[in-house]
Amino acid sequence: MERHENKGMTIYMGDAMDILSSCIPDASVNLIFADPPYNIGKNFNGRKDKWESDEKYLDWCYRWLSLCIAKMSPNGTFYLMAATQNMPFLDIFLRKHLTVLSRIVWSYDSSGVQAKRYFGSLYEPILHCVKNPDDYVFNADDVMVEAKTGATRKLIDYRKPVPTQYSTMKVPGNVWSIPRVRYRMPEYEEHPTQKPIALLERIVLASSNPGDLVLDPFSGTFTTGAATHKHGRRFVGIEAEEAYIKIGLRRLGIATEYKGEHLHRPPKTYEPAFSGQTENLTLFESNHDSSVYGKHPRCP
Ligand SMILES: C[S@@+](CC[C@H](N)C(=O)[O-])C[C@H]1O[C@@H](n2cnc3c(N)ncnc32)[C@H](O)[C@@H]1O
Repeated sequence: MERHENKGMTIYMGDAMDILSSCIPDASVNLIFADPPYNIGKNFNGRKDKWESDEKYLDWCYRWLSLCIAKMSPNGTFYLMAATQNMPFLDIFLRKHLTVLSRIVWSYDSSGVQAKRYFGSLYEPILHCVKNPDDYVFNADDVMVEAKTGATRKLIDYRKPVPTQYSTMKVPGNVWSIPRVRYRMPEYEEHPTQKPIALLERIVLASSNPGDLVLDPFSGTFTTGAATHKHGRRFVGIEAEEAYIKIGLRRLGIATEYKGEHLHRPPKTYEPAFSGQTENLTLFESNHDSSVYGKHPRCP
């Protein structure tokens, strides 16, 4: 287990189950975003994404989900991503402990052919849950999107007592069309399941306030960290693979070196040689004491 910290951002390298149980205090986290391995055979730098059986995978999920629930503050929010085929089981499990407010579909298009003999999959489900349905954060004004239908056609709503033009902005519905991260995008990192920063920014802005603590137990390329960093929240991220820890240290501006290795984004095939640039992120100056982390004997 390894821990890196700088100005409100903490990264743990190790197993999510171990770190959740030994390093994260109960009831301390305002927002959790969890995007675990889906049990569909991806290759996370050599780490398996395939369990012996569905039952074993679900049992593993129920154990780390229970830990996450314990870490949520009384008004905390939890977003879970999972494979479509597993989500019904996880939904039923979570409903015993939390209130599910939205079942979100992240939809995207693909220029490639997904399937020729059935309808290819072009979405992933996301559950939006809260601990207390009477007390939770939802900053609707910070995530408004353009209301296309009535407003752009300048329609009048005659059902109102005084006929009124349709609003030009609205709170997003539960179908989110956000492009997947592609190789030529500036945010691209070498990881098989990197999520778009636009997706995480919507979640972070809607469901946390500046200074709040956001946890991602399966950080991957640290997209959640990058979104929290950009919007002045504190972050604690866990990731098992060293290759992805190095991405996180660089992406969050925590370190420029790791074990003597200079951390840089590998140049893309069409770019001139590496220019030494990192993402233009200003470090968030936290007033909060993150020293609550690391008090457990097994926690660095
Ligand atoms: C679906 S990916 C997360 C992608 C991430 N949301 C992003 O935007 O890059 C899941 C990640 O969990 C990591 N992982 C797998 N098993 C783990 C474990 N037991 N503890 C911590 N991390 C784990 C994998 O290495 C992988 O990077």
